[in-house]
Amino acid sequence: MVEKIIIDTDPGQDDALAILLALASPELEVLGIVAAAGNVPLPLTNVNIRKVCELAGRTDVKVFAGCSQPMSGTLVTAEYVHGATGMDGADLPDPVMPLQEQHGVDFIIETLMREPAGTVTVCTLGPLTNLGKAMTKAPEIVCRIKQVVLMGGGCFEGGNITPAAEFNIYVDPQAAAVVFGSGVPIVMMPLDVTHKTLTTRARVEAIRAIGGHLAAVLVGWLDYFERFDVAKYGSEGGPLHDPNVIAYLLKPELYSGRLCNVEIETESELTKGMTVADWWGVSGRPKNAIFMRDVDADGFYALLTERLSRLAHAEAERQPKLRLH
Ligand code: RIB
Ligand code: CA
Repeated sequence: MVEKIIIDTDPGQDDALAILLALASPELEVLGIVAAAGNVPLPLTNVNIRKVCELAGRTDVKVFAGCSQPMSGTLVTAEYVHGATGMDGADLPDPVMPLQEQHGVDFIIETLMREPAGTVTVCTLGPLTNLGKAMTKAPEIVCRIKQVVLMGGGCFEGGNITPAAEFNIYVDPQAAAVVFGSGVPIVMMPLDVTHKTLTTRARVEAIRAIGGHLAAVLVGWLDYFERFDVAKYGSEGGPLHDPNVIAYLLKPELYSGRLCNVEIETESELTKGMTVADWWGVSGRPKNAIFMRDVDADGFYALLTERLSRLAHAEAERQPKLRLH
């Protein structure tokens, strides 16, 4: 049974690998990709998505621009991690494929109202602005969403942009509060998981060993992307966040966690954007999200590398001069 998904994303090198993983996997039907403002502003993320689709040979994918600002406050970006383009580390040509006219929020609403209820999974890889706006504009979509699988938040691992908050939630805590308060089934991939999927040298070399143009692009992205976190955490490699969302859909057995209550701090300046996960069930509040805490990291990279190699071989078929070896 093919899983129908909408991807909402703010590329971001890790977002790019997540999109490629989805496009490489026949188990998934990507109904559309919506650009979020996050790692870099919207004019860049909508271009980056189309660059990734063209890299995958998938100019058929419909790409939409979502909201340029969070539901409240002003946009906070992360060029210090991802570079000025959002995908520094490799150069790709400006996209030729078009950006869809329809607003990404309206695409989300229209798709969920058209597709049979309970058949579409929404995968968010960036701030939750577009989904939060869609749920606010059309609350009737909430009960039609099969599940939301999101990269965001943290508990035992703390935050990454503040001591308390992870970037995706921090950028738009109001939108996150709408989503987590909506009653939609949620699977969270927090920092507690993504900090266990590090881009170690062996893993990056396994991707480089695929050979050819696409693999060289991926390694360029990973080498650039990890440098900030390696310097910050002193870890062997950086946390590869967003592909965990897609990997969960492909091999859920790689992950383990717990259904628990997760609330979003939206007021306090000190802890704004914090995901307060009631792991031990002390609050009595409704259990609204599966908080993933563990992952088979080697299994994750084996899946990611095998699927990316499929794209690399397909690229070599399309463009022999980019042959693998
Ligand atoms: O905190 C990590 C998350 O923020 C990832 O999704 C990364 O791409 C950025 O969006
Ligand atoms: Ca992201």
